[in-house]
Amino acid sequence: MLSLKKTFSGVSSTTKEDRKFEEPQQNNDITHIGIDLGTVNTILYISGSGIVFNEPSVVAFDKDTKKIIAVGHDAKKMIGKAHDKVEVVRPLTHGAVSDKTAARAFLEHIILNSPRQDINKQKATVLICCHADLSAIERKALRELASSFGITDVLVEEEVKAGAIGMGVDIFRAIGTLVIDIGGGSTDIGVLSLGDLVVSRSIKIAGATFDNELIKYLKFKRNFEIGPSSAEELKIQLATVKNEIKDDKSATVSGRDLRHGLPGTITVKQTEVRDVLMKSFRTIVGEVFKVLEACPPEISSDIMDTGVCINGGGSMIDGVKEFFENELELPVMLSAEPLTSIAMGTKVLLKNRGNYLVKPYD
Ligand SMILES: Nc1ncnc2c1ncn2[C@@H]1O[C@H](COP(=O)(O)OP(=O)(O)OP(=O)(O)O)[C@@H](O)[C@H]1O
Ligand SMILES: [Mg+2]
Repeated sequence: MLSLKKTFSGVSSTTKEDRKFEEPQQNNDITHIGIDLGTVNTILYISGSGIVFNEPSVVAFDKDTKKIIAVGHDAKKMIGKAHDKVEVVRPLTHGAVSDKTAARAFLEHIILNSPRQDINKQKATVLICCHADLSAIERKALRELASSFGITDVLVEEEVKAGAIGMGVDIFRAIGTLVIDIGGGSTDIGVLSLGDLVVSRSIKIAGATFDNELIKYLKFKRNFEIGPSSAEELKIQLATVKNEIKDDKSATVSGRDLRHGLPGTITVKQTEVRDVLMKSFRTIVGEVFKVLEACPPEISSDIMDTGVCINGGGSMIDGVKEFFENELELPVMLSAEPLTSIAMGTKVLLKNRGNYLVKPYD
Protein backbone atom coordinates (compact mmCIF):
# COMPACT_ATOMS: atom_id res chain seq x y z
CA MET A 1 0.00 0.00 0.00
CA LEU A 2 1.30 3.42 -0.86
CA SER A 3 1.84 5.83 2.00
CA LEU A 4 -0.46 8.76 2.50
CA LYS A 5 0.30 12.47 2.77
CA LYS A 6 3.97 12.52 1.94
CA THR A 7 5.54 15.86 1.36
CA PHE A 8 6.18 16.71 -2.25
CA SER A 9 9.70 16.15 -3.50
CA GLY A 10 9.22 15.92 -7.27
CA VAL A 11 10.15 19.49 -7.95
CA SER A 12 13.67 20.66 -7.53
CA SER A 13 12.64 24.29 -7.39
CA THR A 14 9.12 25.60 -7.17
CA THR A 15 9.26 29.32 -6.73
CA LYS A 16 9.43 31.71 -9.66
CA GLU A 17 12.68 33.15 -8.31
CA ASP A 18 14.30 29.73 -8.10
CA ARG A 19 13.41 28.67 -11.62
CA LYS A 20 16.23 29.28 -14.00
CA PHE A 21 14.34 30.23 -17.11
CA GLU A 22 16.68 32.75 -18.61
CA GLU A 23 15.78 33.83 -22.12
CA PRO A 24 17.59 31.43 -24.49
CA GLN A 25 20.82 32.75 -25.93
CA GLN A 26 20.19 34.02 -29.43
CA ASN A 27 22.11 31.68 -31.71
CA ASN A 28 23.05 33.54 -34.94
CA ASP A 29 19.82 35.54 -34.56
CA ILE A 30 17.66 32.38 -34.58
CA THR A 31 14.25 33.26 -33.14
CA HIS A 32 12.70 30.59 -30.90
CA ILE A 33 8.92 30.39 -31.12
CA GLY A 34 7.03 28.15 -28.68
CA ILE A 35 3.35 27.50 -29.30
CA ASP A 36 0.94 25.86 -26.87
CA LEU A 37 -1.85 25.33 -29.40
CA GLY A 38 -4.60 24.20 -27.04
CA THR A 39 -8.21 23.24 -27.68
CA VAL A 40 -9.40 26.16 -25.56
CA ASN A 41 -6.41 28.55 -25.25
CA THR A 42 -3.32 29.29 -27.30
CA ILE A 43 -0.14 30.70 -25.80
CA LEU A 44 2.67 32.05 -27.97
CA TYR A 45 6.19 32.51 -26.66
CA ILE A 46 8.91 34.28 -28.65
CA SER A 47 12.53 34.40 -27.46
CA GLY A 48 13.55 37.87 -26.41
CA SER A 49 9.93 38.92 -25.83
CA GLY A 50 8.38 36.20 -23.61
CA ILE A 51 4.65 35.41 -23.88
CA VAL A 52 3.17 37.62 -26.61
CA PHE A 53 -0.27 35.97 -27.06
CA ASN A 54 -2.47 34.28 -24.47
CA GLU A 55 -6.05 34.07 -25.72
CA PRO A 56 -8.78 31.57 -26.65
CA SER A 57 -8.13 29.34 -29.68
CA VAL A 58 -10.97 30.82 -31.69
CA VAL A 59 -10.98 32.54 -35.08
CA ALA A 60 -13.82 34.27 -36.94
CA PHE A 61 -13.94 34.58 -40.73
CA ASP A 62 -15.99 36.64 -43.16
CA LYS A 63 -17.67 33.81 -45.11
CA ASP A 64 -17.62 35.72 -48.41
CA THR A 65 -14.06 37.03 -48.43
CA LYS A 66 -12.63 34.22 -46.21
CA LYS A 67 -10.69 36.94 -44.39
CA ILE A 68 -10.12 36.82 -40.63
CA ILE A 69 -12.31 39.32 -38.80
CA ALA A 70 -11.40 38.40 -35.21
CA VAL A 71 -9.19 36.07 -33.19
CA GLY A 72 -8.90 35.12 -29.51
CA HIS A 73 -11.14 36.91 -26.99
CA ASP A 74 -12.90 38.95 -29.69
CA ALA A 75 -13.74 35.83 -31.70
CA LYS A 76 -14.83 33.89 -28.59
CA LYS A 77 -17.43 36.57 -27.81
CA MET A 78 -19.01 35.79 -31.21
CA ILE A 79 -19.61 32.07 -30.46
CA GLY A 80 -23.33 31.31 -30.72
CA LYS A 81 -24.12 34.92 -31.65
CA ALA A 82 -22.96 35.26 -35.28
CA HIS A 83 -25.19 35.68 -38.36
CA ASP A 84 -24.72 33.58 -41.49
CA LYS A 85 -22.07 35.84 -43.06
CA VAL A 86 -19.67 35.11 -40.19
CA GLU A 87 -18.09 31.76 -39.39
CA VAL A 88 -16.65 31.30 -35.91
CA VAL A 89 -14.29 28.32 -35.62
CA ARG A 90 -12.37 26.51 -32.91
CA PRO A 91 -9.57 24.94 -35.00
CA LEU A 92 -8.89 22.15 -32.47
CA THR A 93 -11.06 19.43 -30.99
CA HIS A 94 -9.82 17.25 -28.12
CA GLY A 95 -6.26 18.53 -28.58
CA ALA A 96 -5.97 17.69 -32.29
CA VAL A 97 -6.36 19.99 -35.29
CA SER A 98 -9.88 19.46 -36.63
CA ASP A 99 -9.96 22.38 -39.10
CA LYS A 100 -6.59 22.67 -40.84
CA THR A 101 -7.43 25.83 -42.80
CA ALA A 102 -8.64 27.65 -39.70
CA ALA A 103 -5.65 26.45 -37.64
CA ARG A 104 -3.20 27.64 -40.28
CA ALA A 105 -4.92 31.03 -40.61
CA PHE A 106 -5.10 31.44 -36.82
CA LEU A 107 -1.42 30.60 -36.25
CA GLU A 108 -0.20 32.70 -39.12
CA HIS A 109 -2.31 35.62 -37.86
CA ILE A 110 -1.06 35.48 -34.28
CA ILE A 111 2.61 35.11 -35.28
CA LEU A 112 2.57 37.78 -37.98
CA ASN A 113 0.56 40.18 -35.78
CA SER A 114 2.70 39.63 -32.69
CA PRO A 115 4.61 42.62 -31.33
CA ARG A 116 7.71 41.07 -32.94
CA GLN A 117 7.77 42.25 -36.52
CA ASP A 118 11.47 41.47 -36.95
CA ILE A 119 11.18 37.68 -37.25
CA ASN A 120 13.16 36.28 -40.15
CA LYS A 121 11.20 33.12 -41.11
CA GLN A 122 14.36 31.54 -42.53
CA LYS A 123 16.02 31.97 -39.15
CA ALA A 124 13.24 30.85 -36.84
CA THR A 125 12.56 27.58 -35.03
CA VAL A 126 9.01 26.73 -34.02
CA LEU A 127 8.09 24.25 -31.30
CA ILE A 128 4.43 23.25 -31.24
CA CYS A 129 3.12 21.33 -28.25
CA CYS A 130 0.75 18.43 -28.75
CA HIS A 131 -1.16 15.95 -26.62
CA ALA A 132 0.50 12.73 -25.53
CA ASP A 133 -1.17 10.31 -27.94
CA LEU A 134 -0.77 12.28 -31.19
CA SER A 135 -0.24 9.90 -34.11
CA ALA A 136 2.69 10.23 -36.53
CA ILE A 137 0.28 11.57 -39.16
CA GLU A 138 -1.13 14.18 -36.78
CA ARG A 139 2.42 15.25 -35.80
CA LYS A 140 3.31 15.60 -39.48
CA ALA A 141 0.18 17.70 -40.00
CA LEU A 142 1.27 19.99 -37.14
CA ARG A 143 4.74 20.41 -38.66
CA GLU A 144 3.20 21.15 -42.06
CA LEU A 145 0.97 23.74 -40.44
CA ALA A 146 3.93 25.86 -39.37
CA SER A 147 5.95 25.23 -42.52
CA SER A 148 2.96 26.28 -44.66
CA PHE A 149 3.54 29.90 -43.68
CA GLY A 150 7.25 29.88 -44.27
CA ILE A 151 8.96 28.54 -41.13
CA THR A 152 10.62 25.26 -42.07
CA ASP A 153 12.39 24.37 -38.82
CA VAL A 154 9.50 22.94 -36.83
CA LEU A 155 9.59 20.67 -33.78
CA VAL A 156 6.68 18.92 -32.06
CA GLU A 157 6.85 18.00 -28.37
CA GLU A 158 4.29 16.65 -25.90
CA GLU A 159 2.63 19.35 -23.78
CA VAL A 160 2.87 17.19 -20.68
CA LYS A 161 6.67 17.35 -21.00
CA ALA A 162 6.83 21.11 -21.68
CA GLY A 163 4.32 21.71 -18.88
CA ALA A 164 6.40 19.78 -16.34
CA ILE A 165 9.47 21.87 -17.19
CA GLY A 166 7.36 25.03 -16.99
CA MET A 167 6.20 23.97 -13.51
CA GLY A 168 9.82 23.75 -12.40
CA VAL A 169 10.24 19.95 -12.49
CA ASP A 170 13.73 18.74 -13.34
CA ILE A 171 12.63 16.12 -15.89
CA PHE A 172 16.24 15.45 -16.93
CA ARG A 173 17.04 13.45 -13.77
CA ALA A 174 17.10 9.63 -13.72
CA ILE A 175 14.04 9.87 -11.48
CA GLY A 176 10.46 9.31 -12.58
CA THR A 177 7.79 11.98 -12.18
CA LEU A 178 4.07 11.63 -12.90
CA VAL A 179 2.42 14.60 -14.62
CA ILE A 180 -1.30 15.13 -15.29
CA ASP A 181 -2.47 17.95 -17.59
CA ILE A 182 -6.21 18.56 -17.32
CA GLY A 183 -6.75 20.83 -20.32
CA GLY A 184 -9.81 21.94 -22.23
CA GLY A 185 -10.02 19.13 -24.80
CA SER A 186 -7.94 16.33 -23.34
CA THR A 187 -6.38 15.12 -20.12
CA ASP A 188 -2.84 13.91 -20.65
CA ILE A 189 -1.09 11.67 -18.16
CA GLY A 190 2.63 11.02 -18.53
CA VAL A 191 5.56 9.63 -16.61
CA LEU A 192 8.82 11.42 -17.34
CA SER A 193 12.37 10.27 -16.68
CA LEU A 194 15.73 11.24 -18.24
CA GLY A 195 14.08 14.08 -20.13
CA ASP A 196 11.38 12.17 -21.95
CA LEU A 197 8.09 10.32 -21.60
CA VAL A 198 8.33 6.71 -20.45
CA VAL A 199 4.59 5.96 -20.36
CA SER A 200 1.66 8.18 -21.33
CA ARG A 201 -2.05 8.28 -22.05
CA SER A 202 -4.37 10.95 -23.38
CA ILE A 203 -8.14 10.88 -22.89
CA LYS A 204 -10.85 13.10 -24.31
CA ILE A 205 -12.22 14.05 -20.91
CA ALA A 206 -11.31 17.58 -19.82
CA GLY A 207 -12.70 21.11 -19.38
CA ALA A 208 -15.04 20.98 -22.40
CA THR A 209 -16.42 17.64 -21.16
CA PHE A 210 -17.21 19.20 -17.77
CA ASP A 211 -19.08 22.02 -19.57
CA ASN A 212 -21.01 19.54 -21.76
CA GLU A 213 -21.92 17.39 -18.78
CA LEU A 214 -23.32 20.48 -17.02
CA ILE A 215 -25.35 21.34 -20.16
CA LYS A 216 -26.76 17.79 -20.30
CA TYR A 217 -27.55 17.74 -16.57
CA LEU A 218 -29.48 21.01 -16.68
CA LYS A 219 -31.33 19.97 -19.83
CA PHE A 220 -32.46 16.55 -18.65
CA LYS A 221 -32.79 17.09 -14.89
CA ARG A 222 -33.82 20.73 -14.68
CA ASN A 223 -35.53 21.29 -18.07
CA PHE A 224 -33.25 24.21 -18.76
CA GLU A 225 -30.98 24.82 -21.76
CA ILE A 226 -27.75 26.81 -21.53
CA GLY A 227 -24.99 27.49 -24.08
CA PRO A 228 -21.32 26.44 -23.84
CA SER A 229 -20.09 29.86 -22.64
CA SER A 230 -22.65 29.96 -19.80
CA ALA A 231 -21.71 26.39 -18.86
CA GLU A 232 -18.03 27.33 -18.72
CA GLU A 233 -18.85 30.38 -16.54
CA LEU A 234 -20.96 28.23 -14.22
CA LYS A 235 -18.11 25.71 -13.94
CA ILE A 236 -15.54 28.42 -13.17
CA GLN A 237 -17.83 29.85 -10.47
CA LEU A 238 -18.91 26.64 -8.75
CA ALA A 239 -16.74 23.67 -9.78
CA THR A 240 -15.39 21.61 -6.91
CA VAL A 241 -14.36 18.00 -6.36
CA LYS A 242 -14.45 18.25 -2.58
CA ASN A 243 -16.33 15.50 -0.77
CA GLU A 244 -17.49 17.82 1.93
CA ILE A 245 -18.89 21.20 1.06
CA LYS A 246 -19.48 23.34 4.16
CA ASP A 247 -21.55 26.16 2.69
CA ASP A 248 -23.35 25.00 -0.43
CA LYS A 249 -22.88 28.07 -2.67
CA SER A 250 -25.10 28.68 -5.66
CA ALA A 251 -25.03 30.68 -8.88
CA THR A 252 -27.65 31.96 -11.29
CA VAL A 253 -27.41 31.07 -14.95
CA SER A 254 -29.41 32.38 -17.90
CA GLY A 255 -30.73 30.37 -20.83
CA ARG A 256 -33.99 28.90 -22.09
CA ASP A 257 -36.65 27.34 -19.90
CA LEU A 258 -37.61 24.21 -21.86
CA ARG A 259 -41.05 23.97 -20.25
CA HIS A 260 -42.32 26.96 -22.23
CA GLY A 261 -39.36 27.72 -24.56
CA LEU A 262 -38.81 31.22 -23.21
CA PRO A 263 -35.65 32.92 -21.86
CA GLY A 264 -35.18 32.55 -18.13
CA THR A 265 -32.76 32.01 -15.25
CA ILE A 266 -32.20 29.23 -12.75
CA THR A 267 -30.15 28.83 -9.62
CA VAL A 268 -27.65 25.96 -9.55
CA LYS A 269 -26.07 24.63 -6.35
CA GLN A 270 -22.39 23.81 -5.95
CA THR A 271 -23.25 20.27 -4.83
CA GLU A 272 -25.09 19.71 -8.13
CA VAL A 273 -22.01 20.86 -10.11
CA ARG A 274 -19.74 18.70 -7.94
CA ASP A 275 -21.87 15.60 -8.55
CA VAL A 276 -21.86 16.20 -12.32
CA LEU A 277 -18.05 16.61 -12.44
CA MET A 278 -17.29 13.65 -10.19
CA LYS A 279 -17.99 11.04 -12.89
CA SER A 280 -15.36 12.59 -15.19
CA PHE A 281 -12.81 12.87 -12.39
CA ARG A 282 -13.31 9.21 -11.46
CA THR A 283 -12.59 8.28 -15.09
CA ILE A 284 -9.41 10.40 -15.01
CA VAL A 285 -8.27 8.61 -11.84
CA GLY A 286 -8.87 5.24 -13.56
CA GLU A 287 -6.62 6.34 -16.44
CA VAL A 288 -3.90 7.48 -14.02
CA PHE A 289 -3.95 3.99 -12.46
CA LYS A 290 -3.49 2.46 -15.93
CA VAL A 291 -0.39 4.63 -16.46
CA LEU A 292 0.96 3.68 -13.03
CA GLU A 293 0.38 0.00 -13.77
CA ALA A 294 2.37 0.32 -17.01
CA CYS A 295 5.34 1.96 -15.25
CA PRO A 296 8.61 0.07 -14.78
CA PRO A 297 8.95 -0.82 -11.05
CA GLU A 298 11.97 1.43 -10.42
CA ILE A 299 10.01 4.40 -11.70
CA SER A 300 6.96 3.43 -9.62
CA SER A 301 9.09 3.59 -6.53
CA ASP A 302 10.38 7.05 -7.55
CA ILE A 303 6.82 8.30 -7.98
CA MET A 304 6.03 7.42 -4.36
CA ASP A 305 8.53 10.17 -3.44
CA THR A 306 8.27 12.55 -6.38
CA GLY A 307 4.47 12.41 -6.42
CA VAL A 308 2.15 13.91 -9.00
CA CYS A 309 2.35 17.31 -10.72
CA ILE A 310 -0.98 18.62 -12.00
CA ASN A 311 -1.16 21.26 -14.70
CA GLY A 312 -3.72 22.77 -17.12
CA GLY A 313 -6.90 24.80 -16.58
CA GLY A 314 -8.70 21.87 -14.90
CA SER A 315 -6.16 21.94 -12.06
CA MET A 316 -7.78 25.21 -10.92
CA ILE A 317 -10.94 23.39 -9.89
CA ASP A 318 -11.46 23.65 -6.13
CA GLY A 319 -10.33 20.54 -4.24
CA VAL A 320 -8.27 18.98 -7.06
CA LYS A 321 -5.16 18.59 -4.88
CA GLU A 322 -7.00 16.84 -2.04
CA PHE A 323 -9.02 14.71 -4.48
CA PHE A 324 -5.96 13.24 -6.22
CA GLU A 325 -4.02 12.90 -2.94
CA ASN A 326 -6.86 10.81 -1.50
CA GLU A 327 -7.51 8.75 -4.63
CA LEU A 328 -3.87 8.05 -5.56
CA GLU A 329 -2.37 8.14 -2.06
CA LEU A 330 0.53 10.14 -3.46
CA PRO A 331 1.76 13.68 -2.79
CA VAL A 332 0.33 16.19 -5.27
CA MET A 333 1.68 19.54 -6.44
CA LEU A 334 -0.46 21.96 -8.46
CA SER A 335 1.07 24.20 -11.11
CA ALA A 336 1.49 27.81 -9.98
CA GLU A 337 0.69 28.96 -13.54
CA PRO A 338 -1.53 26.23 -14.98
CA LEU A 339 -2.41 28.08 -18.20
CA THR A 340 1.07 29.29 -19.20
CA SER A 341 3.58 26.77 -17.86
CA ILE A 342 3.61 24.77 -21.13
CA ALA A 343 4.69 27.86 -23.08
CA MET A 344 7.31 28.57 -20.39
CA GLY A 345 8.61 25.02 -20.81
CA THR A 346 9.06 25.48 -24.56
CA LYS A 347 11.90 27.90 -23.80
CA VAL A 348 13.99 25.11 -22.31
CA LEU A 349 13.02 22.53 -24.94
CA LEU A 350 13.91 24.94 -27.76
CA LYS A 351 17.23 25.67 -26.14
CA ASN A 352 17.97 21.99 -25.66
CA ARG A 353 16.36 20.75 -28.86
CA GLY A 354 16.17 16.98 -28.79
CA ASN A 355 19.12 16.52 -26.46
CA TYR A 356 17.22 15.01 -23.54
CA LEU A 357 20.27 13.73 -21.71
CA VAL A 358 21.83 17.16 -21.30
CA LYS A 359 20.37 19.22 -18.52
CA PRO A 360 19.87 22.65 -20.04
CA TYR A 361 19.26 24.55 -16.79
CA ASP A 362 22.97 24.81 -15.91
N1 LIG B 1 -10.81 28.69 -12.53
C1 LIG B 1 -11.13 27.65 -13.30
N2 LIG B 1 -11.82 26.61 -12.77
C2 LIG B 1 -12.14 25.56 -13.54
N3 LIG B 1 -11.81 25.41 -14.85
C3 LIG B 1 -11.13 26.43 -15.41
C4 LIG B 1 -10.74 27.58 -14.67
N4 LIG B 1 -10.08 28.41 -15.52
C5 LIG B 1 -10.04 27.80 -16.71
N5 LIG B 1 -10.66 26.61 -16.65
C6 LIG B 1 -10.88 25.64 -17.74
O1 LIG B 1 -9.63 25.18 -18.20
C7 LIG B 1 -9.76 24.78 -19.57
C8 LIG B 1 -8.63 25.37 -20.37
O2 LIG B 1 -7.44 24.87 -19.88
P1 LIG B 1 -6.14 24.85 -20.79
O3 LIG B 1 -5.84 26.22 -21.28
O4 LIG B 1 -5.09 24.14 -20.02
O5 LIG B 1 -6.66 23.95 -22.00
P2 LIG B 1 -6.05 23.81 -23.45
O6 LIG B 1 -4.58 23.77 -23.35
O7 LIG B 1 -6.61 24.86 -24.34
O8 LIG B 1 -6.65 22.41 -23.91
P3 LIG B 1 -5.92 21.05 -24.36
O9 LIG B 1 -4.57 21.03 -23.74
O10 LIG B 1 -6.80 19.97 -23.83
O11 LIG B 1 -5.90 21.09 -25.84
C9 LIG B 1 -11.12 25.29 -20.04
O12 LIG B 1 -12.04 24.20 -20.13
C10 LIG B 1 -11.53 26.27 -18.95
O13 LIG B 1 -12.93 26.35 -18.79
MG1 LIG C 1 -3.18 22.28 -23.08
